[in-house]
Amino acid sequence: MRKFLIAGNWKMNGGEQFTFDLLSVIKNQKPAISEDIDVLVCPSFVSLSIAIDQLHKSDVLVGAQNIHEAEKGAYTGEISASMLVEAGCSYVLLGHSERRAYYHEDDALVHKKLQTALRNELAPVVCVGELLDERKENRHFEVVKAQTLATFEGLTYEQAVQVVVAYEPVWAIGTGETASPEQAQEMHAFIRSILAEQFGDAANAIRIIYGGSMKPANAQELLSQPDVDGGLIGGASLDAKSFVSIIEIAESLTNSVREIDSPTTLEED
Ligand code: 13P
Repeated sequence: MRKFLIAGNWKMNGGEQFTFDLLSVIKNQKPAISEDIDVLVCPSFVSLSIAIDQLHKSDVLVGAQNIHEAEKGAYTGEISASMLVEAGCSYVLLGHSERRAYYHEDDALVHKKLQTALRNELAPVVCVGELLDERKENRHFEVVKAQTLATFEGLTYEQAVQVVVAYEPVWAIGTGETASPEQAQEMHAFIRSILAEQFGDAANAIRIIYGGSMKPANAQELLSQPDVDGGLIGGASLDAKSFVSIIEIAESLTNSVREIDSPTTLEED
């Protein structure tokens, strides 16, 4: 069974004071999190330490929003994967559409970063998703297929199951417009079918989460889709009440039947 991952991408919002205040309210409103789901927050680099300190006895995981692809060296202004691991991060977001659009990150660079993350045992959440024009031109499957293949190229089964895919249709990010549950399910199932061609039944162990204007009002429907394994939440993760409410929706859904093969059945075949 795939565990839901409910992740907050805070983007470039919130310094230390904001981080402390927001996490205090989240911890207060949600002192315990069901072990059936994973909850992650990804604050800015300068707020990671305070988040890690504040959450070290809680069930909430902390991740970063980017890494450099090199292990270390003369890359002024950059942050390495090992620095983040040493700081206490367990996840990193990679290939977000904002980084692809504003910092020219292409599939090849995202793949290098992915390999660096895996080498350092930092779990990558790799974002894929089509632009509005690409959907209008009916090219969304083609675009997401290319991004997915580039992400997983050359990975072993053991590496692949460490990766989380975040399907974030770019037209739904920060726009208030959400993919319908049917659109999300259709794309998630498509991504899983691509992964199944490469990894067989192990594709059933890879989490595919949805991002793009997820909020309490639409989370239930989105998270009820069989191939939607969580959410990558921007705006609504900056509001404790909304984020906690999405976590609670995910918790309530883990009790419903999500019939999914475990990857261990693969090895037994
Ligand atoms: P919003 O939830 O604000 O649309 O952002 C989604 C996102 O980009 C998460 O990475």
